[in-house]
Amino acid sequence: MQTLTLNNGVHLPALGLGVFQTPPDETRAAVAAALDVGYRHVDTAAAYGNEREVGEAIRNSGVPRGELFIETKVWISDYGYDETLHAFDKSSGKLGVDQLDLFILHQPLPSDFGKTLDAYRALEALLADGKVRAIGVSNFMVDHLRALLDVATVVPAVNQLEIHLYFQQREVQAFDSEHGILNQAWSPIGGITFYRDSGHTSALEDPVIGEISRAHGKSPAQVLLRWGLQQGRSVIPKSTKPERIAQNLDVFDFELTADELVAIDKLETGKRGGPEPESITLAKFGTPIPEA
Ligand code: A2P
Repeated sequence: MQTLTLNNGVHLPALGLGVFQTPPDETRAAVAAALDVGYRHVDTAAAYGNEREVGEAIRNSGVPRGELFIETKVWISDYGYDETLHAFDKSSGKLGVDQLDLFILHQPLPSDFGKTLDAYRALEALLADGKVRAIGVSNFMVDHLRALLDVATVVPAVNQLEIHLYFQQREVQAFDSEHGILNQAWSPIGGITFYRDSGHTSALEDPVIGEISRAHGKSPAQVLLRWGLQQGRSVIPKSTKPERIAQNLDVFDFELTADELVAIDKLETGKRGGPEPESITLAKFGTPIPEA
């Protein structure tokens, strides 16, 4: 498995299983299928409601803890210094682990950015205590990153963003790269373009992707994952289907050409599939996270 080195020297398996929108009762089987075919990185979140099932699948797999990279996220309802320290106890308790490999803030909370900064300070404390091996953020735009970097003592290792063929966030990606922050793509095969009414063509039916896919004898999903990996991103595709989970890992035996990478870059539409980070408020999205 190809790994990427984070800015603090920790190694991250470049491709992981995403479990956003994987129902808790399907999560055990999806994670088990992934670990069975060789995945060693799982990305979950307190807000997904399936950390307990991820933890069960990990324990049942018998894969040694040291071989696994477990990433989860603090939800906005747990922002604030003490609250985020407690969010670590909740998430690690549900996952059944003493230490997390990567713990990140799920969203900026622009309406109360002070709380976002307090939450990040708690991540820094967890890192100093050895409770997490790396810390980061998700869905942070350039202004959020600048405001964070003004006060942070630890540069985030990762910024997890919506990045797919139709919404590439090049400005944020460039800012991240300049500051040593790894770009990690959520919805890397553009799932957000077909499970939400986003007004996009389904990424898997895009004619440009179809042509590249035929040229390599690989599926459209594999082409899109390869595009992300070749551009240096970590990718965390979600699937609940064992054959697709296996297919999504089988992307290390072919190489897209420079022209093919550019052809995919040109599919940018500027249209986001997920929520606008500026629109995130506690009133609208602040569902509490249950205790462990
Ligand atoms: P399913 O879970 O039914 O397999 P993304 O992570 O980019 O958002 O993509 C997730 C979406 O893509 C889900 O709807 C998932 O559905 C689907 N999907 C994942 N892998 C593949 C694949 N290899 N081929 C087709 N669809 C896929």
